[in-house]
Amino acid sequence: MLRSHTCGELRAEHVGQEVTLVGWIDTIRDHGGLRFIDLRDRYGRTQVTLSPETIDAAELKSLRSEQVLQVTGQIESRPDGMKNPRLATGDIELVATVVEMLGDCPALPFDFSGGDLVNEELRFQYRFLDMRRPEVQRRFQLRSDLQHELRNFLHQQNFIDLETPMLTKSTPEGARDFLVPSRLNPSQLYALPQSPQIFKQLFMVAGFDRYMQIVRCFRDEDLRADRQPEFTQLDLEMACVEEDDVIEVIEGLMAHVVKSLTGQEVETPFLRISYDDALLRYSSDAPDLRSDLEIFDLSDLAADLGFKVFSGAVEAGGAVRGMRVPGAGLWPRKQIEALEAIVKNQGAGGLAWMKSTENGLAGPVARFCDGDAGSRLVERSGLQVGDLCCFVADRSKRVVINSLSFLRKELAQKLGHIKPDVLKFCWVTEFPLFDEDETSGNPVPCHHPFTAPHPDDLDQLESSPLKVRARAYDLVLNGFEVGGGSIRIHQRDLQERVFEAIGLSQDEAKSKFSFLLDALKYGAPPHGGIALGIDRLVMILAGDESIREVIAFPKTQRGTCQLTGAPTHVSDAQLKEVGLKVADTPEAVSTPVEGEEGDRR
Ligand code: AMO
Ligand code: AMP
Repeated sequence: MLRSHTCGELRAEHVGQEVTLVGWIDTIRDHGGLRFIDLRDRYGRTQVTLSPETIDAAELKSLRSEQVLQVTGQIESRPDGMKNPRLATGDIELVATVVEMLGDCPALPFDFSGGDLVNEELRFQYRFLDMRRPEVQRRFQLRSDLQHELRNFLHQQNFIDLETPMLTKSTPEGARDFLVPSRLNPSQLYALPQSPQIFKQLFMVAGFDRYMQIVRCFRDEDLRADRQPEFTQLDLEMACVEEDDVIEVIEGLMAHVVKSLTGQEVETPFLRISYDDALLRYSSDAPDLRSDLEIFDLSDLAADLGFKVFSGAVEAGGAVRGMRVPGAGLWPRKQIEALEAIVKNQGAGGLAWMKSTENGLAGPVARFCDGDAGSRLVERSGLQVGDLCCFVADRSKRVVINSLSFLRKELAQKLGHIKPDVLKFCWVTEFPLFDEDETSGNPVPCHHPFTAPHPDDLDQLESSPLKVRARAYDLVLNGFEVGGGSIRIHQRDLQERVFEAIGLSQDEAKSKFSFLLDALKYGAPPHGGIALGIDRLVMILAGDESIREVIAFPKTQRGTCQLTGAPTHVSDAQLKEVGLKVADTPEAVSTPVEGEEGDRR
């Protein structure tokens, strides 16, 4: 070894020992002819004293931040008054006798010392430097510890860690596939897995009744702060289970990892909210329950309130919804009116409001509240003196939901509800099996096409597919969907009916999924599972706002790698080998969307 110790382990008990450290120069200070440097590695920092009597002057002069040094010398106790109680190695210093530069370093491309750096582009271009910073290293330690604890817990519960192929056939999770050409089969393409969904179901048929894998997934979709084209799942599947069994394992798992990583106790069982309720009360299918702000519907009162904006929206098939904001009635009018911009950004026509004061109701909606409908509105809102109530009406329910979702988030933030160290888990359940495709109107799976329909709704699968409920559940943490799963279809005929409901002909179903349909024929036990988004979990636990921070080499919003420049053009020879031709002027295809609601909508 080129070193005898790390930069984080030397203490008073080492005084008098000769040691050798290797690390990066963190800081350099001159002090009355002596030079002090902090030598840094993954484990900490140690102060090194360099004296012109022992070290060559030219060598001393050439020292610069971020060079890699090997320093040999004696550990000495720091003089009283010079000890640093905030540093684990703060009682001692290394008095250097031999210094060797193992790796030179030019002037740095960005300021290394300042906390979180502003220029993200530069940080990811020089990610190897960025990752040298202790606060970045802490995130990756957390990530590693999380994965270790997840595995430990599940192994103790009899889960077997199995791998699934990366070069495979389309595994539908609602995104586009990344395709990989095959030299041995020119013109034919593999798809990278969007998830190991079908393979893990085959493990159940094979009799591995509890499977787990920490696995990379690939999805070609528009990117946002919590979405990357490649990301990591904790994937698991269990045979002979129902919803509650999967939920119980995950609650135990989450309580365990949170306790091990943060010391916090997580209360179980987690709250369960139906999908409809979540959309109504929190305007989100991934509600952030750190805030207790709630939304209520008043569409039924709209006709009688006498406010055209409200009644018009409802008559056009839309909705009116409101949210009480405790205490915000005392805000200056300007501040209340400024909220309108948030909902207008989401397509709402405006934001109506009223407040309750000592002298009664005030604000634009107050004058509509004299009659019976008005009293019912006030009662429903729970408005108290000092409160504000905001309303959005629109002919599109989606616009109402989206606007109030953004408004709720913003207000929760303003009111100080969003505490970074509070963890609020919940389950969202009773999803519909299908969504309506916006352009074709056809049913598309809300989760994926292998999710079991609710047994009570089976007779509607053909007649009113959009009314069928799914046996699916999402795990939500602080407003992020951190997991999604379901009980699966384990009978071949039911799987065929679902394929048909989403418009796959029998031939198409066979050509795409014959191996699954076959497996379901050969003794498939009932089974279900879930996958957790590891990047999102780490992001939340690390208090970050983007999963890019907790992925070592992430992609940009455009899906490019700042560091390597991928994706790149390849040579004609390489293309020829795999039987491909590319268009002359490839154009970027889609525009990324930031801040859009939920994964499903
Ligand atoms: P789902 O599609 O819900 O389910 O994915 C599971 C979890 O993975 C995370 N996730 C992502 N994280 C980062 N970037 C992305 N692009 C991305 N997409 C998804 C989310 C999500 O909750 N096979 C099913 C699981 C099952 O049914 O068992 C599946 O993949 O946190
Ligand atoms: P008006 O009667 O047009 O002056 O509007 C009265 C209030 O209704 C104003 O505060 C507007 O911002 C608000 N408003 C306008 N359109 C909408 C809408 N679609 N939803 C909620 N409030 C609205």
